[in-house]
Amino acid sequence: MSVDIEGITQGLEEELKSVGDNASLEALRIKYLGRKGSLSEILSHLADLPLEQRPVVGKRANELKQRLLAFIKEKEAEFNSGLQQGAKFDITLPGTAYEIGQRHPLTQIMDEICAIFSHLGFKIVESPEIETEFNNFTALNIPLEHPSRDVFDTFYLETPMNTDRSGRLTQIKSAGKLLLRSHTSPGQIRVMKQYQPPLAVVVPGKVYRPDAVDASHSFMFHQVEGFLVNKEVKFSDLKGVLTYFCQELFGKDIRMRFRPHFFPFTEPSAEVDISCIICKGKGCSVCGRKGWLEILGSGMIHPNVFKAVGYPKDKYTGFAFGLGIERIAMLKYGINDIRLFFENDLRFLKQF
Ligand code: DAH
Repeated sequence: MSVDIEGITQGLEEELKSVGDNASLEALRIKYLGRKGSLSEILSHLADLPLEQRPVVGKRANELKQRLLAFIKEKEAEFNSGLQQGAKFDITLPGTAYEIGQRHPLTQIMDEICAIFSHLGFKIVESPEIETEFNNFTALNIPLEHPSRDVFDTFYLETPMNTDRSGRLTQIKSAGKLLLRSHTSPGQIRVMKQYQPPLAVVVPGKVYRPDAVDASHSFMFHQVEGFLVNKEVKFSDLKGVLTYFCQELFGKDIRMRFRPHFFPFTEPSAEVDISCIICKGKGCSVCGRKGWLEILGSGMIHPNVFKAVGYPKDKYTGFAFGLGIERIAMLKYGINDIRLFFENDLRFLKQF
């Protein structure tokens, strides 16, 4: 027997060049180093060789074997790390994890509130945050001397201007004064100006007041306004709707109290309290030892409001209510600082 070790070496060197993946690498290994592989055969049958060939062939075959093993090790590492020649990225690196977002706690509460009223047949309407002085105050029977109309209590905007043909700036007189709405009640005016009763509507959204920011105040916060207008709507309808609403939001065993109050746009008016959800009415620091928490304002829509939107006199009656979302969220989740809602701190937001 004789062995063409030079031929094998050349052949192997050629084959090494064409190895491009794990499969061809494995095929090569089997061909040379498998049980019947050519190098294995040579090495196990050295004794059959003529004496003078043995040391040379043995040495070269061993070198080839080591060379091939090193090659296999190197290529395996390369293929398995994904760093193949020409590859643009390492396919074995973990992918980019996108964090799944969630709704802001205030949005969750707003959606929950809207869903409860929607279930009762109320329509959800959005109304602009920039409002006219007429819609925000005058039409809601809020007199000129009312403190809420003061510049310290309302963000007024620059009088809107227009450019005339000659390029001069002129005031748009018809617009009147504009402001950032200080409550969502002007949503009532916009809807009633456009539609005739029967109406049952809720208006969720942002409102603005130039308050100094502290644990319980923010210059921007959220309200939901609701109103229902038809023939012969009674105060008992208001009580029924608000009782259903509070029981849905806070649980069936919540108790309620309608406390006489004054709002210019409703007559009679009432503030609504619920039994404290923390102490169940026994008295604690959250309810100021009263056992009750004020959660909304309400009443029967004032005839002057119907007059302002052009409804015929004495034809309709209706009720309205307004509630602050931050306050409800704070009560529901036991949050003691309103600023947490607006700081965008994920450690806070991820808890909801
Ligand atoms: N607009 C009132 C406010 O911002 C809330 C309110 C109270 C709305 C009584 C109403 C209502 O519709 O009847 O303080």
